[in-house]
Amino acid sequence: MNEQTGANIILGVTGSIAAYKAPSILRGLMERGHRVRVVMTVAAQQFVHPTTFRALCGHPVITALFPPNSQVELRHVELADWVDALAIAPCTANFIGKAANGLADDILSCAWMACDCPKLIAPAMNDRMWASPPVQTNCETLRLQTGVHFIGPVEGGLASGKQAIGRLAPVSEIVDAIHSVVTG
Ligand SMILES: Cc1cc2nc3c(=O)[nH]c(=O)nc-3n(C[C@H](O)[C@H](O)[C@H](O)COP(=O)(O)O)c2cc1C
Repeated sequence: MNEQTGANIILGVTGSIAAYKAPSILRGLMERGHRVRVVMTVAAQQFVHPTTFRALCGHPVITALFPPNSQVELRHVELADWVDALAIAPCTANFIGKAANGLADDILSCAWMACDCPKLIAPAMNDRMWASPPVQTNCETLRLQTGVHFIGPVEGGLASGKQAIGRLAPVSEIVDAIHSVVTG
């Protein structure tokens, strides 16, 4: 991290209803002077179009492990060399499960495994999913790993209309947490 020019951050976006908040997280990080590359899962692209992120950060969004037509994108190993911090926000139960159990079947899970930088996870999901034993066990596994930080989830209004734990942490809290990690 260069104090003058900011840090290199990967913002990983997964297929949660809270994905619509990810462009604001991107903006917040850029306003702090960081360079951000966005990696989206296939499911995330059902919620927000990559064009939104591309327009905001000025870089192509990385969406595929095997891009069509030999399209040149950064691969997971190049991302791992470039990055100072990897933040998954919002992070699905599915991604938590893959990260905790060493599955790497898409560009974001490969990048997660290849990166040895600090990593942050901001979960967002239905309260019953969050409370489920597999999700809690997988979070415990990740919490025990050096350099993995959790931000939320928090209690609040969920997509179901219920007030419960599972809501994505506030955008400002996520941006502050990522900034703190890269500024030491
Ligand atoms: C409308 C809708 C909203 C969803 N919201 C969430 C969510 O907030 N959190 C979550 O863990 N999964 C959510 N899912 C399920 C994920 O999209 C699904 O598990 C998907 O496989 C996640 O893939 P990914 O982890 O590769 O992005 C939702 C699915 C739908 C159809």
